[in-house]
Amino acid sequence: MDLFTLKNKIIIVTGASGLLGREHVKAILIAGGTPILLDLNQNVIDKQVEELKLIYKTEIGGYAVDITKEEQVKVNCLELMKKYGKIDGLVNNAANNPKVEESEEVNFSRLENFSVETWTKDLDVALKGTFLCLKYYGFQISNNIEGGSIVNISSDLGLIAPDQRLYYKAGLKESLQPVKPITYSVVKTGVIGLTKYISTYWAEKNVRCNAICPGGVENNQTSDFVEKLIERIPMRRMAKQNEYQGVLIFLLSSASSYINGAIISADGGRTAW
Ligand SMILES: NC(=O)c1ccc[n+]([C@@H]2O[C@H](COP(=O)([O-])OP(=O)(O)OC[C@H]3O[C@@H](n4cnc5c(N)ncnc54)[C@H](O)[C@@H]3O)[C@@H](O)[C@H]2O)c1
Repeated sequence: MDLFTLKNKIIIVTGASGLLGREHVKAILIAGGTPILLDLNQNVIDKQVEELKLIYKTEIGGYAVDITKEEQVKVNCLELMKKYGKIDGLVNNAANNPKVEESEEVNFSRLENFSVETWTKDLDVALKGTFLCLKYYGFQISNNIEGGSIVNISSDLGLIAPDQRLYYKAGLKESLQPVKPITYSVVKTGVIGLTKYISTYWAEKNVRCNAICPGGVENNQTSDFVEKLIERIPMRRMAKQNEYQGVLIFLLSSASSYINGAIISADGGRTAW
């Protein structure tokens, strides 16, 4: 199992307090690594770190860093280098997870009503934020003698268009029908572009960069939605929340030492159809 160990590896996770971020952090701990949690709320992060330390009894870092703010990323990167002396891995996970809006009056998720402000906010977190993390943390990984691994979290919706029929609500007129917003497709496809770029940029320094394209995760969705969704998934179910831990450990560890620039679907086969 040494192939999969993350022992002595300092690995940053963005959006670490979110639904999947928490699972990524646990995966790193299970494999013996040192996760550095980045998210927006220091109190939430501190509580999370405290709870994890009780279970895993190991070093864990946690910082409030808004990844869309260059100065914050820069300062945090300096602090991490001072404290740990190196960075081995980065999981670019943070993104706005746009809720599919249901409204009685105007539906702001629909393209014809979608604001430039929301467009900018969504692109800022997932694309500008990832770019800034690559610029600072990624660069430090490229200075690491052993190189390292960068994993970007895209989505099945980075590979296929959202099927808006999944969100259809009977009785609502077309102008109010809920939809997955356009920015989700844009940022999740953009993350794949970033992955390919980085996979060649520092490859000679042994920095690998791969993307995971997860399918939808069980999170108290309505049974009506789940029934429609699983019709489109060959395995006929959504993912469990901890079901991406294995692929993450694999991509961060030397078990995947020759895997670079790969866009890995983890979606129960949804994008095979
Ligand atoms: N949940 C799913 O079903 C699913 C499916 C496929 C892909 N994904 C992807 O997985 C990733 C995580 O999704 P999730 O469901 O855990 O989302 P989530 O909304 O639960 O978590 C996102 C986290 O990012 C943080 N964040 C937002 N803006 C930030 C910023 N500027 N700086 C730092 N942190 C910031 C939020 O505070 C939050 O904790 C996303 O990239 C999402 O697109 C999720």
